[in-house]
Amino acid sequence: MSVPVIAIDGPSGSGKGTIARRVAEALGYHLLDSGALYRLTALSARKQGVQFDDEASLAELARALDVRFDSNSDGSERIWLDNEDVTLEIRRESTGEGASMVASIQSVREALLERQRGFEQAPGLVADGRDMGTHVFPSAAVKIFLTASAEERARRRHKQLKDKGIDVSLAALSRDIEDRDRRDTERSVAPLRPAEDARILDSSGLSIEAVTNTVLDWVAEL
Ligand code: DC
Repeated sequence: MSVPVIAIDGPSGSGKGTIARRVAEALGYHLLDSGALYRLTALSARKQGVQFDDEASLAELARALDVRFDSNSDGSERIWLDNEDVTLEIRRESTGEGASMVASIQSVREALLERQRGFEQAPGLVADGRDMGTHVFPSAAVKIFLTASAEERARRRHKQLKDKGIDVSLAALSRDIEDRDRRDTERSVAPLRPAEDARILDSSGLSIEAVTNTVLDWVAEL
């Protein structure tokens, strides 16, 4: 029997992470935060002094990532890289920026492909990223492209980082988000775009509950 995969793709700050987590919890499915793998690759490169133009070494780092995804008793995430707690570090904007750069390298994407597919396990998987529906899980049962206006995404990201004690200006964040959108959308390998069979969901002005319920309704139609 094949395992149902719910692919949730979309730009930075569209709320994918939050929604994917809620949907996975509601369904009792596994969760793949694919962006974390690109973030971990960038972080690992920085820690090991690998330059972002050394594609072969970056791909090797990606293939060999020693990572553990855990959760705290309150359900919040905890992520370990080489047995070091990097939960906060991988969420920094500088790591996101590095992730976006390493994510444009074909050999890095290939190195992470099988690892991502390994998350496809019973009873099901909610996969969050940029190319879940287009490349990693092309036969996903449900494909969703989650968007929101650029202003709203910057505001959400600002709040999210502030809640984690990371201080950054809203203006700087808006610029970063625009740059990252451009790089993720215009890159030649696996660019950010909705799968042809994806349902587009604009979450601007919608609550987390409303978006989660819409996704769960779509899953229930299966
Ligand atoms: O979702 P995120 O902000 O954690 O993603 C970090 C970067 O990784 C993002 O700029 C694009 C890249 N990424 C990707 O190219 N493909 C994915 N499936 C997930 C993330």
